[in-house]
Amino acid sequence: MLENRKIILGITGSIAAYKAVYLARTLIKRGAEVQVVITPSGKEFITPVTLSSLTQKPVISEFFTANTGEWHSHVDLGLWADAMLVAPATASTIAKMANGIADNMLVTTYLSARSPVFVAPAMDFDMYRHPTTRRNLDLLRSYGNHIIEPAEGALASGLEGKGRMEEPEKIADILDRFFDESGSFAGKRVMVTAGPTYEKIDPVRFIGNYSSGKMGYAIAAAFAARGADVTLVSGPVTLSAPAGVKRVDVESAREMYNVATACFPDTDIAVMCAAVADFAPAQTAVSKIKRGTDGMTLQLVPNPDIAAALGKMKKPGQILAGFALESDNEEANARHKLEKKNLDFIVLNSLADKGACFGGDNNKVTVISRSGDIKACPMKSKSEVAEDIVTYISEMFLK
Ligand code: CTP
Repeated sequence: MLENRKIILGITGSIAAYKAVYLARTLIKRGAEVQVVITPSGKEFITPVTLSSLTQKPVISEFFTANTGEWHSHVDLGLWADAMLVAPATASTIAKMANGIADNMLVTTYLSARSPVFVAPAMDFDMYRHPTTRRNLDLLRSYGNHIIEPAEGALASGLEGKGRMEEPEKIADILDRFFDESGSFAGKRVMVTAGPTYEKIDPVRFIGNYSSGKMGYAIAAAFAARGADVTLVSGPVTLSAPAGVKRVDVESAREMYNVATACFPDTDIAVMCAAVADFAPAQTAVSKIKRGTDGMTLQLVPNPDIAAALGKMKKPGQILAGFALESDNEEANARHKLEKKNLDFIVLNSLADKGACFGGDNNKVTVISRSGDIKACPMKSKSEVAEDIVTYISEMFLK
């Protein structure tokens, strides 16, 4: 899929810059034309001579070539590319890209590029998990950029953790998949539910859960990246909507039910990822409930089961997928849910795996089909899990 694709490879000042040499080579071996743009500090780690010999093109770093005075047009470069890939991307370059600080050729080219942009962060574990970096990556995601999550392992600092730039072969695979138009969802209408629901007790209190919405948002982003028309029905979360996705905000299960059942008849594919509260207070107090000396009993009533309601409405050709969160008898319980809600497949999240599921960036899932086929996946980032789910739908239902 990379044959004749024009790719700008942006390299920044990270020890992982040495991997960019393999990356350039891999992309070229797969048929791509690669133009390197490197930051001044990137050149401290890897020489332009190595890169230009590999790519057969002069490496661009400054706005002007020092001895000839030749001007490099970031605008022309931005228009030339089929994709821009920043790998490795340091915390500093990510911050500049997120905030439009165009003080070097790489960020200026990024701002001029009309093509899809892929960013492969590489940094120390603590820098990667710093709120500033998290926020800047969320901003890039909200602009529609694709973040290629770093892997876990030994870091150059001597620390262990997440922050290693993804391996060149895997990055090339991600670009390959992106350009694979056979996996396109153009013309498909997709609905994704995400996040928790809040069930009001009184004006200041609610019943909720720990869902962050990250899994559902990653699924919505993955569908949108493949050309689907996506509606994201979202409970209260702190994430920004992925680019190109229509987001409808709801608070309670009842509101989510109303939006989802209204949207479903015009939907080709629905993925129910929300952690819907099963119960709501029978009554919402109009004023704040005062502390008494006695205990209090809260009467709860069941919420509607949104997935089951859509399962009843489902027409031939519509695809309905759900998630199951189980603590025991995982597969049997997930299969039971799949049947009961009339789903086409179910994605089982296990509570047994540390680091997976609620709140985190990773997830370990098992996909169970209607016919009973089981696909157990290793622990992956939520963006990779989202890619896998979208690819699964494309292979199982669209071919
Ligand atoms: N779901 C839903 N509406 C609900 C409850 C769940 O749409 N009121 C959906 C979830 O989005 C998920 C699937 O149903 O796709 C399974 O959710 P889960 O909470 O695991 O199952 P429940 O049916 O609530 O069963 P239990 O909590 O008893 O395990």
